[in-house]
This record gives sequence, C-alpha cells and structure tokens, in this order.
Amino acid sequence: MWYEKTLKPLLFKLDPETAHDMAYMLGKLASSSPAACHFIGKFAHTLVPDDPFTCWGLSFPNRLGLAAGFDKHGYLPAVLQALGFGFVEVGSVTALPSQGNPRPRMFRLPADRALINRMGLNNEGARRIVDRLIQAPAVQIPVGINIAKTHNPQILGAAAIEDYRVSFSQAVRFADYITVNISCPNTEEGKTFEDPEALSRLLTVLMAQPRRRNNRTIPVLVKLSADLDAPQRRELVSLCEEAGIDGYVAVNTSGLRKSLVHSSDAEIARAGRGGLSGAPLLQRSLDTISDLHSLTGGRKPIIGVGGIVEPSSAVEMRQAGASLVQVYSGLVYKGPGLVKQLRESLGTIRAESLPIH
Ligand SMILES: Cc1cc2nc3c(=O)[nH]c(=O)nc-3n(C[C@H](O)[C@H](O)[C@H](O)COP(=O)(O)O)c2cc1C
Repeated sequence: MWYEKTLKPLLFKLDPETAHDMAYMLGKLASSSPAACHFIGKFAHTLVPDDPFTCWGLSFPNRLGLAAGFDKHGYLPAVLQALGFGFVEVGSVTALPSQGNPRPRMFRLPADRALINRMGLNNEGARRIVDRLIQAPAVQIPVGINIAKTHNPQILGAAAIEDYRVSFSQAVRFADYITVNISCPNTEEGKTFEDPEALSRLLTVLMAQPRRRNNRTIPVLVKLSADLDAPQRRELVSLCEEAGIDGYVAVNTSGLRKSLVHSSDAEIARAGRGGLSGAPLLQRSLDTISDLHSLTGGRKPIIGVGGIVEPSSAVEMRQAGASLVQVYSGLVYKGPGLVKQLRESLGTIRAESLPIH
C-alpha cells in the first residue's frame, strides 16, 4: 500500500526506464551489503512461511520468481532473495554486449496496468555477466540464466546458432537452469527464433553441448511467445520434446494490441512497436500454459509468466498447469509488497484444485 500511495506517484512522473534504473541502482547497492539484505529480509521475506518445492533437482523455497528482463546484468540475486523471491531469472544475456534500441523504449499504459517495451536485449554480454554472478556471494535460491541471440541483424543462420551456443556455454558455468529465449519480439531483424526449422537446428546444437556441473545436468527450458496459435504451439512443443528439453517458460511479451481495452489509441500509438506485458497478457498466458500442460501430459514443468498483477492470477496460473510462476510488470504497478501477496496466495492453493500430473 505504501508503495502505491507514496513511491509510485513519484516514480510514475519519471520516464519508465529512468524509474527502473533508479530502482535497479538501489537494488544493486542493497545486494552488495549483507546488512541491508538482512534488514530487508526481516521485513519482507521472513514474514511469510516458506512453501518449498523441488524440481529439476533444485530446491525452491517458494514458487514465485522474478521474470527475465528485470535483472539483465546479474547484480540483484541477493536482494531479490531478501525480498522473498523463490528464484530469479537473470538476462536475457547474449554472446556479444549490446546497447539495445535507442531510448525511449519502455512505456506504461496505466489504465490497462500494462507495459510496452522494445529494449532490444541490452546487456553487457554473457561472459561478463556470468563472471559477475560467479564472483558474487552465493544465494540459496535457484538462479536461472536466460540466453538470447545478440541484437545484430547480421548474425543469421549458422552464426545465430553459434551465438546462442556461446551464451549457453557461458551460462553453464553458473546457471541452476538455462532458459533459451526464442521469442523476443524486439530483435533487430524483427524475427523470433520460433520458425520450426530454425528452432530444430538450434536445439540440436544446444542439447549436444556439455551441461554438467557439480554432478548435475543443468536443465534447459524454452521460452515461448504469447502470440503462437494452437497449431504452432503443437509443432514447437513436438520439436522441443524431440530435442529432450526439460521444461517451458510461458509466455514472453506480445506484439499484439487487441487485449488493451482501457488505454486510448493515442497512448498506444505513442508507445509504438514492442512487446506488451502486464494484465492484458494474462488470458493468453493461461491459454498457453494449459495447452502446454496437456501437450506434454503434465510431465514437463512449466514456469508461468505474463499478466500477474493480482494474487488471484498467480493461483489461476498454477491451476492452468504451471509449477512455478514469475512476475515483472505487476511489480511496476504494485511494488515489492506484491511479492508477499503472491507468495501468500500461492501458499494457500489446495492440491485438489490443481490439474493432475
Ligand atoms: C522491460 C522488459 C524487458 C524484458 N526483457 C526480457 C528479456 O530480456 N528476456 C526475456 O526472456 N523476457 C523479457 N521480458 C519479458 C518478461 O520476462 C515476461 O515474459 C513478460 O514481461 C510477461 O510477464 P509480466 O506480464 O509479468 O511482465 C521483458 C519484459 C519487460 C517488461
């Protein structure tokens, strides 16, 4: 409540990326101080009982994670653990560093509790970010690394696959799990990696890479777009299953604008192209999750993401078939207090209300 009454009005006066950068800077400072993390943990984390869950041989203290795109540079795991997240997905990281698209590239649509972004995979490059994660004090929560293709339209075909492979081999040095982001709508070439032939070649190469560390095989997940129709999902899931991937992240942002009902045409036009996230994504995210759950017979864990702004949406995601959930845009609208609310609602789900695995 304090966030919505006091901090949010101030932050919403700033350009969205500037507000994000300020929050990031504070998080980075807190992450570097064990005392600050301890203090934050006292107020946020320890007030909610744990809801432990084991998956891919990893222990999650609870099922709520921070989605990719918030901690692109890998500075925040310690403070995110203190805030009560049960896991974190760092990235997307790419083989080469990239500045991303020119600013402004992130926009709020408050009437719909949505964001539109075309960040363009800005990051410092996989090697540097993985080095940073390795050198940081260890955290107890699982840290995934999300990899994508470098934001450069000249990197195509076999070079694009090699680019992913480089990031993959870096990620294996640290990640508890690796998410292959094939669905970023903000690539310079304007195409995702969801073309079946391209995806098949990519997964053949990645799944043949060494991925054992400390006597465990690092699980590989694929992150799908919100904009796939049912036949496309069926085809891609069949390819992913053939390749032997370990799970799915559903969904990435959407290029469509149909679900925006409260924002004016002028606001939507001002934002321009980019991926839509936040509340309007929820239905597509739920549909994708339940489809994936039935396509895989409930045998592959799904991380559900997209449109969680209310605690009830996290519950719906679990009921659609997600084993774990992630949030990003909801935090912009509700602040860090949402973490506790989501954890409480996730902790109260009764097993009978979930789909059978
Ligand atoms: C500003 C911004 C940047 C993002 N960057 C990435 C990214 O680099 N890689 C990725 O896989 N997803 C990225 N995402 C997508 C989120 O991980 C998530 O899939 C999407 O926002 C839907 O969740 P939400 O409705 O809770 O925000 C980004 C989202 C936002 C809002």
